[in-house]
Amino acid sequence: MTLTSPEMIKSTKLYQRNSDLHPQVHAKQLDKKLGFRIPKIEVKLLQKYRAYYQPNDISNKKQHFKGTQTWIGLHPQALQTPYNDLYEALLYLKEYNIETVVDIGAGYGRVGLVMNSIFPTSKFIGYEIIRKRMEEANRIFNVFNLQNCSVLQKNVLAEDFIIPNAQIYFIYDFSEMDDICKILDQLSQRLMQENFFLITKGTRVDYLLAHKYKEFWLANSFIQLDELKIYSSQVDLKKHVK
Ligand SMILES: C[S@@+](CC[C@H](N)C(=O)[O-])C[C@H]1O[C@@H](n2cnc3c(N)ncnc32)[C@H](O)[C@@H]1O
Repeated sequence: MTLTSPEMIKSTKLYQRNSDLHPQVHAKQLDKKLGFRIPKIEVKLLQKYRAYYQPNDISNKKQHFKGTQTWIGLHPQALQTPYNDLYEALLYLKEYNIETVVDIGAGYGRVGLVMNSIFPTSKFIGYEIIRKRMEEANRIFNVFNLQNCSVLQKNVLAEDFIIPNAQIYFIYDFSEMDDICKILDQLSQRLMQENFFLITKGTRVDYLLAHKYKEFWLANSFIQLDELKIYSSQVDLKKHVK
């Protein structure tokens, strides 16, 4: 059975952890309930592009997606952050004034769906380079009439890309280390002037923050919730929340 009501999609219960279900199994079931066509799209992408785990082969007709890492060939439930984890991280920030949430490398826009259940009046902007993923995210936002959520097709590594101001930025290892550095460089320059949270997932972004971008946590530390970490530009989260 698929969900159709715009009201149902706002229920926080949809995204809450259920101890009987692994978060990826929960996510797979919820994707289906919401009507996402993710497996089909990922199979098509794999027919067109070389999988991320295969080495380059210039003699082969099928080549990698050029210019960035798009994780084509990764299982859809590994490509995306589980709803349960997103829910718990965003809920942690519930008491803050969150106007805008930005996802750098948004995939199918999951962050927007979960944001909408906790911050229904906030705006979600996701950036995604793969057109089919972007279109599917927006199709689902339209099905549920989520006018505050959109995924834009954009290469976040483009010279002209400036990250819009937001109170929450989300990064799940969207590409290689050097590429992630370009985004962290931009955010690092805002640490002193702006009040924002950075939520991260992935070994690459974690490594970079631990070793190269210590300014994100030296003053306020960070908190870890399962596989996600939350950094803050202004607030000591350990002292200020729960
Ligand atoms: C690991 S997935 C994360 C998806 C989503 N944020 C989540 O956590 O569920 C990273 C996404 O970033 C996209 N991506 C990679 N490089 C990009 C770039 N340069 N500009 C925009 N999107 C990019 C990929 O296509 C992929 O869909």
